[in-house]
Amino acid sequence: MVAMQLEPIGPNIWVANGTEIKFMGLLLGTRSTIVRLNDGSVWMHSPVSYNCDLATEIENLGPIRYLVAPNIYHHFFLKEWQDHYPNAELIGPHDLPAKRPDLTFAALFDDLRCDPWFGEIDRVAFTGSRAFDEHVFFHRASRTVILTDLIVNVRLDNQSTLGRLIAHIEGVAYPNGRTPLLYRLGMRDRAAGAKAVAAILGWGATQAVISHGEWFREHATQELRKRLAWLPL
Ligand SMILES: [Fe+2]
Repeated sequence: MVAMQLEPIGPNIWVANGTEIKFMGLLLGTRSTIVRLNDGSVWMHSPVSYNCDLATEIENLGPIRYLVAPNIYHHFFLKEWQDHYPNAELIGPHDLPAKRPDLTFAALFDDLRCDPWFGEIDRVAFTGSRAFDEHVFFHRASRTVILTDLIVNVRLDNQSTLGRLIAHIEGVAYPNGRTPLLYRLGMRDRAAGAKAVAAILGWGATQAVISHGEWFREHATQELRKRLAWLPL
């Protein structure tokens, strides 16, 4: 029997772990979060690499309606999903189309109230960094925050010696992973970042999924507060 790739983590929400990528000397796992909306359609955050079995599992949940790019870095696997699901609407940040002119965007993040999933999934734009701004989501029904690169929490077992060193320097080693140093150093408007963090904490999430490393299955709000404490609250 083939192992299931979707792991249910609450009402109408699943995660799927994808292939590992190499990034700045670190081996990073990838993770997508999948939500089934009230109309039965599927919302897919930061798609992991495409494979037929995963696609079938997702199709069994409902038609794939939205492909979500949360920042300008998580675009590696969008094309393959868009090629397989040309009717799915790709939505992403303003600077991504220039970087990936081969992708077709249905919309770009703008006013929150224009999000087609408004009322079911909340969104906060984390801004103030030079390069790493990202859109953070909250699935109300499961009280789940969905982060991308704002917190990284990687196990060191499979890292090279250099990778382990980098993980410690970047501050992203499990179990104490937090915002990567590069991200923190690039903040030019800490007040903007702090405002976003306050909004994120205000959701009162019970769990928080991240894209790289171990995510937070319980006590999410406390975990987020601790790991985002580098910003003044
Ligand atoms: Fe990432």
